[in-house]
Amino acid sequence: MRRRAFLSWVGVGWLFSRVPAVFTVFLAACTRQQKPASGLETVGTIADLDAKGILQTESPAPILVVRNPADPKTLIAVNSTCTHQGCLVNWNAERKAFICPCHGAAYGADGSVQNPPATKPLTTYPVQIEGQNVQVKVS
Ligand code: FES
Repeated sequence: MRRRAFLSWVGVGWLFSRVPAVFTVFLAACTRQQKPASGLETVGTIADLDAKGILQTESPAPILVVRNPADPKTLIAVNSTCTHQGCLVNWNAERKAFICPCHGAAYGADGSVQNPPATKPLTTYPVQIEGQNVQVKVS
């Protein structure tokens, strides 16, 4: 093999050795673009919410999203951790309340306490509809 051909193949090999690094940088840039800087987290779609009656996620926090029974055009997002002893509450559409399965605490749709033993309201989060997605501002 001639020297020039050898150096060409070394150059081609070096270029191909950079492909994984370039691909990694590209993926990192794409991932950053998907995470909004506003602190809004997409927790699901309106279609899922309407099909299931709730949206539920564990990350970045245990969050439950429901339509506001008083104004179904708006949404309500709460931290589903019961303030009594930390069980996860469920949404009861008939009662229009979040119910804790452990000791029976009940919270209104706005997170306020309706039934003991809980004494503190559920944490609520700002929530919005963006296109087809439901976004919650957790931080
Ligand atoms: S943990 Fe929810 S009522 Fe006790």
